[in-house]
Amino acid sequence: MATPYRQAMRDATTFAPVMEAGPNSYAHAVEILRGGGLVALPTETVYGLAADAANDKAVMRIYAAKGRPSHNPLIAHIFEPKDARSLVKISPLAQCLMDNFWPGPLTLVLPKITDKISGAAGVGLDTLAIRCPATSWVSAFLELGFHGPIVMPSANRSGHISPTTARHVADDLGDKVDLIIDSGECPNGIESTVLKIEDDHTVLLRPGAIPAEDFVPYISDLRLPGITFPASAPAAPGMLKSHYAPKASVRLNALSKRPGEAYLAFGPSTIEYDYNLSPEGDLIEAARNLYSALRALDKVDTIAIAPIPKKGLGEAINDRLRRAAADRDA
Ligand code: TXA
Ligand code: MG
Repeated sequence: MATPYRQAMRDATTFAPVMEAGPNSYAHAVEILRGGGLVALPTETVYGLAADAANDKAVMRIYAAKGRPSHNPLIAHIFEPKDARSLVKISPLAQCLMDNFWPGPLTLVLPKITDKISGAAGVGLDTLAIRCPATSWVSAFLELGFHGPIVMPSANRSGHISPTTARHVADDLGDKVDLIIDSGECPNGIESTVLKIEDDHTVLLRPGAIPAEDFVPYISDLRLPGITFPASAPAAPGMLKSHYAPKASVRLNALSKRPGEAYLAFGPSTIEYDYNLSPEGDLIEAARNLYSALRALDKVDTIAIAPIPKKGLGEAINDRLRRAAADRDA
């Protein structure tokens, strides 16, 4: 039987226009966002599915388009760091991280102080996840008088692999979005790092494009996932066990290629591989190639994946692979 994903692709009849990044497409994007539409936008991490954060109907369309569970909150994306002041309570540590990592692939979860973001995006939480992306359309949107904020989850069907090209977006959501802006491959290729700053400690909710080690000079007690999470640590909504999943099943830490499998290698490999995330063993390159590789190999029953070192960006890569391999019914 066809999965809902396959069936939806088969049923798709209309497809969104894809426009190259530039002044014309940016003006069109702003027009659509102001009118309550959905635009897929490239960012330094992955492609996002954007809507005006204040527009309830537009925000609800995001959930419907992605098939996203309604309990999973969205990140508010601001265009200038100073815009955070009217949305969240900023502690000295939060300010320090904003000064050092914004614009860039860091999302901060902080106490919410605004009612200007649609309630649907916040799903009743008293916190708000906020990020200031480093990407070229931001200044163009500001010049056009559109100041955001926008909400912007990754532009994939919920639970599927995040998109790092416009083609990936079209494959997943081509019939659900009003416009796709194409600026080629995303430079980081993996989502932003999500940190929740609480009164007395900081929790790494999602390892991402900024490796945890980079925060060491600023955060003395960063709680790393799976190592020092206390039982009292807050659950991260949306940190679902199964996520980033191809249709194929995934076998991790594979040291051989079995008959019928596709093999995804990392570094110099003696095993015959179908794709190598980075022949030289560079984790930055591997992160950039990860989602494209999973999509490209998703034609077999099982994708076998070589061990990936756990240091640096390897933490985020391993996090995504664990979820890709997890029981889909979880
Ligand atoms: O790199 C990125 O962050 C991309 C690009 C498009 O900006 N966006 C992205 O959004 O990855 P999304 O929705 O796919 O993932 C956001 C994650 C979700 O797991 C969500 O549960 C979590 O952030 N999140 C959002 N608001 C939260 C909150 N208030 N508290 C805890 N987690 C939150
Ligand atoms: Mg996502």
